[in-house]
Amino acid sequence: MTDDYPLRPFLPADAMVLRDLFAQSIDELTGDDYDEDQRLAWVATAEDAAAFRDRLAAALTLVVQLDGEYLGFGSLKDNKTIDMLYVHPDFAGEGVGTALADALEKIAAARGAEGVTVDASDTAVPFFERRGYVAAQRNSIPLDDQWLSNTTMVKRLAGSPAKAEPQEAS
Ligand SMILES: CC(C)(COP(=O)(O)OP(=O)(O)OC[C@H]1O[C@@H](n2cnc3c(N)ncnc32)[C@H](O)[C@@H]1OP(=O)(O)O)[C@@H](O)C(=O)NCCC(=O)NCCS
Repeated sequence: MTDDYPLRPFLPADAMVLRDLFAQSIDELTGDDYDEDQRLAWVATAEDAAAFRDRLAAALTLVVQLDGEYLGFGSLKDNKTIDMLYVHPDFAGEGVGTALADALEKIAAARGAEGVTVDASDTAVPFFERRGYVAAQRNSIPLDDQWLSNTTMVKRLAGSPAKAEPQEAS
């Protein structure tokens, strides 16, 4: 495992390859947690290629590409929410997700966020727990005729200022 993966910002030309990576990641990595119909409904959220590209472009999206191969991507929305995090199944478990999450959390901290939230898939909950995220709420998301569960998780960022206590008048 390495945390030395090269990260670069998303370019519109990446969109089609990342859409395939998104579908492969869901299809091959989440089968223990979501059945085939649920996975198909999840993959179909990227059916509209232009909307998928625009979603990545509107967020701060980082791509890991090594020797021309796309290993994964992750995006940060509103400087405080991990919107997407997907690793190519051939490279799962090799630290790509860690490299992306490390970078997105650093960017959020640099931009003044006190914490980072994510709606973690059931597959990704153990990954985020290891990173110090704490479950805040369970969600059921309607997609087509399917319901998919996920968990809103929150991580307080190191160095974020403690909430100021109201001062008593003297
Ligand atoms: C979740 C995901 C992004 C993790 O990326 P990854 O590159 O495989 O993760 P890493 O190799 O950096 O793993 C970091 C740690 O998390 C653990 N981990 C990762 N995925 C895990 C899983 N599904 N279950 C249990 N532990 C897991 C690893 O074992 C590793 O632990 P270690 O530090 O003790 O060795 C990736 O598996 C993925 O794309 N999943 C499918 C799509 C998905 O659900 N995305 C999340 C949407 S919110």
